Amino acid sequence: MARTLITSALPYINGIKHLGNLVGSQLPADLYARYRRARGDEVLFLCATDEHGTPAEIAAQKAGKPVAEYCTELHDIQAEIAAGFRLSFDHFGRSSSQPNHALTQHLATKLYEAGLIEVVEETQIYSETDGRFLPDRYIEGTCPNCGYDSARGDQCDNCTKQLDPTDLIEPHSTISGATDLEQRVTKHLYLKQSNMRDALNAWIDSKADWPVLTTSIAKKWLNDGDGLQDRGITRDLSWGVPVQFEGAPWEGMDGKVFYVWFDAPIEYIACGAEWAAKQGLDDEAWERWWRTDKGADDVRYVQFMGKDNVPFHTLSFPVTMLGAGEPWKMVDYIKSFNYLNYDGGQFSTSRGRGVFMDQALSILPADYWRWWLLSHAPESSDSEFTWENFQQSVNKDLADVLGNFVSRITKFCRSKFSEAVPEGGEYGEQEQALIADLTAKVAEYQSHMDAIDVRKGANALRAIWVAGNEYLQSVAPWSTFKEDPEKAAAQVRLGLNLIGLYARLSAPFIPDTAGKLQTALALPDLDWPEDVAGALDALKPGHGFTVPDNLFAKIADEQREDWQEKFAGTRS
Ligand code: MF3
Ligand code: ZN
Repeated sequence: MARTLITSALPYINGIKHLGNLVGSQLPADLYARYRRARGDEVLFLCATDEHGTPAEIAAQKAGKPVAEYCTELHDIQAEIAAGFRLSFDHFGRSSSQPNHALTQHLATKLYEAGLIEVVEETQIYSETDGRFLPDRYIEGTCPNCGYDSARGDQCDNCTKQLDPTDLIEPHSTISGATDLEQRVTKHLYLKQSNMRDALNAWIDSKADWPVLTTSIAKKWLNDGDGLQDRGITRDLSWGVPVQFEGAPWEGMDGKVFYVWFDAPIEYIACGAEWAAKQGLDDEAWERWWRTDKGADDVRYVQFMGKDNVPFHTLSFPVTMLGAGEPWKMVDYIKSFNYLNYDGGQFSTSRGRGVFMDQALSILPADYWRWWLLSHAPESSDSEFTWENFQQSVNKDLADVLGNFVSRITKFCRSKFSEAVPEGGEYGEQEQALIADLTAKVAEYQSHMDAIDVRKGANALRAIWVAGNEYLQSVAPWSTFKEDPEKAAAQVRLGLNLIGLYARLSAPFIPDTAGKLQTALALPDLDWPEDVAGALDALKPGHGFTVPDNLFAKIADEQREDWQEKFAGTRS
């Protein structure tokens, strides 16, 4: 049995994510996980909250809560909303978990032993006004690379360059706004990434099939940029994985924690350990996914993320994994995404601009959003959410094409025959032609899904729905019935079987709808139709069904206008 390991970039803990975040990693990861499971793979799909670092501290402070308590609360909220979107994680873990503490400290020790971590005395920014060393994200200023004036001390959001706070032009404290920043000496750990340049180049060169978006970003930072500079991986914070632990090969680093971008991707692995522990399984259960000496050799590991995450996953994290000198499973394929914009601007968490995951679910069920977002995934370029476009896609694809097909055929059958697949004639020429056409279309759909081409996959699925509609329109069983009820019965039988086919093929995109169709048609399972002709003859005469409730309500113009207005401002 093929085995597929899937991870989605870990959402930051500091608040509820917007639809741009969702479509950039978790949702396409879920689509792929569902698809691989349907194709019979053994899948382990992991995600977690990314809980450390200054964003968490700042958000907790704002909420007036101890940071640990804040994180527990937000983790549970994010888990619940993820469930609302039907994200089918095998485990939704936490980077603050004990397994991640242990593994982060273990890997740092290994890197130190391999000569890839060194202890460096360094001058660091200290704020007199704030009375503390300022971590990177508490400092903002102008990006030396692109001139963006709100670049953070760790990364520029505009050009994605990884930064050190001392690189910033005209820096100030984001705690107090203070500009009386001075440099003081303290000890930190540095990851000697530059020692790994050749190894990384060779590793990335071996990935000829990666999306251009991924490799171009990786290569840019690897070779023309200074993306592979040696980087400090410790910070002056109390919330995080402690640097000074029992058995640590260094001293004098009390009060420091590992940099959030050092421990966060390690949680991909630790999340596997959390998952195993939760099921009461032993270490072998997760190690067979994560260690090539324990069976992970034949695992295919796919990561999903937004483009701003690519440097960390193609450079920093691989340095940790390769540099530790242990047989860790490396990623096989990195699927990255551009940005989704919102109605003429950017989605923004800090400014509360756009539609957030909880808000989305409060106005419409998950499948409406899943369908729009996935069929408009920002793959080859940035894409844009507008309410007009959303209304149009939902009304056309879901209501007019899929929903209408299901409703017409089931209602017609109930009224002219019964709530059971009718007895009747054989499939004729038109039916055979449709079956041949769909066989080709399903093969095309699969090839896009295999390649994780999300939009092309959605288009191919839509084409499959459309083909059924066109068939129904052209054979018109409601007319046939008058002259040749036998023939109409065969047409209806094929129509009902088409619904079964749609349920199976659509489940990765719109799982709730697929579930409703499964119930309505009393399908024994939603297994993949490996044999399309067989699947279209699976429901035999006499097989009972019920007419499902209307699958999709059309979005009315007034609703659209209401929402447009409601979500025009910013949320506090
Ligand atoms: N929290 C980061 C973001 O939202 C992603 C972290 S991915 C990880 O951009 F692998 F490092 F965890
Ligand atoms: Zn910049």
